[in-house]
Amino acid sequence: MTQANQIVLAKRPTGDVTADCFREETVTLPALTDGQLLVRGRFLSLDPYMRPRMTEMRSYTPPFALGQPLTGGSVGEVVESRNPRFARGDTVMGMLNWASHTVHDGKGLRKIEATGVPLSAHLGVLGMPSFTAWYGMTQICKPKAGETVFVSAATGAVGQVAGQLARLAGAKVVGCAGDQDKCVWAVREAGYDACFNHRTEKDYGAVLDKLCPQGIDADFENVGGKLFHAVFGRMNNFGRIAFCGAISEYQDTTPLAGPPKMFAIVQKRLTIQGFIVSDHVALMPDFVREVGDLVKSGKLKSRETVVDGLSKAPQAFMGLLKGENFGKLVVKLG
Ligand SMILES: NC(=O)c1ccc[n+]([C@@H]2O[C@H](COP(=O)([O-])OP(=O)(O)OC[C@H]3O[C@@H](n4cnc5c(N)ncnc54)[C@H](OP(=O)(O)O)[C@@H]3O)[C@@H](O)[C@H]2O)c1
Repeated sequence: MTQANQIVLAKRPTGDVTADCFREETVTLPALTDGQLLVRGRFLSLDPYMRPRMTEMRSYTPPFALGQPLTGGSVGEVVESRNPRFARGDTVMGMLNWASHTVHDGKGLRKIEATGVPLSAHLGVLGMPSFTAWYGMTQICKPKAGETVFVSAATGAVGQVAGQLARLAGAKVVGCAGDQDKCVWAVREAGYDACFNHRTEKDYGAVLDKLCPQGIDADFENVGGKLFHAVFGRMNNFGRIAFCGAISEYQDTTPLAGPPKMFAIVQKRLTIQGFIVSDHVALMPDFVREVGDLVKSGKLKSRETVVDGLSKAPQAFMGLLKGENFGKLVVKLG
């Protein structure tokens, strides 16, 4: 019998997530039945989409169940298998519990071959957030040389890749992040032309006018809220908005109205496209080839924040919603 440490959803949050929304517990896992495997977690990805899943809101993914372990994209090692697709010792990735060990039916799990890259990279620069950036930038924003692209949460898991892809396409890239060190990294390492601190800058319109004097041709939207209102008002004719997320609104208890002057969508012939990366897995091979080459050649830089130990996952997740992570946030489980 295997004992597992796991973190369950103890309470649904109202407003900011608080520590009492989580409970760590030790459970005895049931013996495997045919088709199941036991996976030891190695790295757990913490992502903004987990916040809406903590509520009862119906969305593109079902809510987390109260009293049950939260789940997340993970890398793990098979320790026991009664599933013919997997053997003891395989390294796998897929959705696992926020837990030391998960009993899994194998659906949605895939093996990772040893490629020399750190395991955590499969959750970041070679994984879902980077694929999100690649999809939104190459399929929706479609930047061209000479255009201006704006990326919010510019140094986060998604934003850091989105901004660099726009720069590699020859565009001028402006971003924002919530900390001066992040802004310095964005310019010096990721090659942004400019990056402003959205926590200290009070007048988003004025700073965007200064940094994007020719207007904005493409917006990779991660943050939403008042920042998006300011960006929306500065879109150029035939501008493209890849609406990826709205993290500034995930903890709001009352919805914020959309930007004023929505008729600008018509006047400026804007394209605004929301997207969910999991709808586009057919394009994964293109992403792996293109971004894999950029990572290997050192043309694409990435940052990650690694938190050590499952017990720290709740605090780290609350920090993510306040900008305490720098780059992809992962929890090292063992
Ligand atoms: N559509 C999809 O398929 C898909 C897939 C993955 C992610 N997403 C979305 O993409 C966005 C970025 O995700 P990520 O994985 O890259 O997360 P992340 O950037 O690694 O972490 C979130 C970051 O958002 C910023 N932030 C947090 N609260 C904020 C606020 N109130 N105002 C402004 N910025 C705030 C913080 O950075 P600062 O220090 O810069 O404030 C924080 O570090 C999120 O909206 C997420 O939901 C969408």
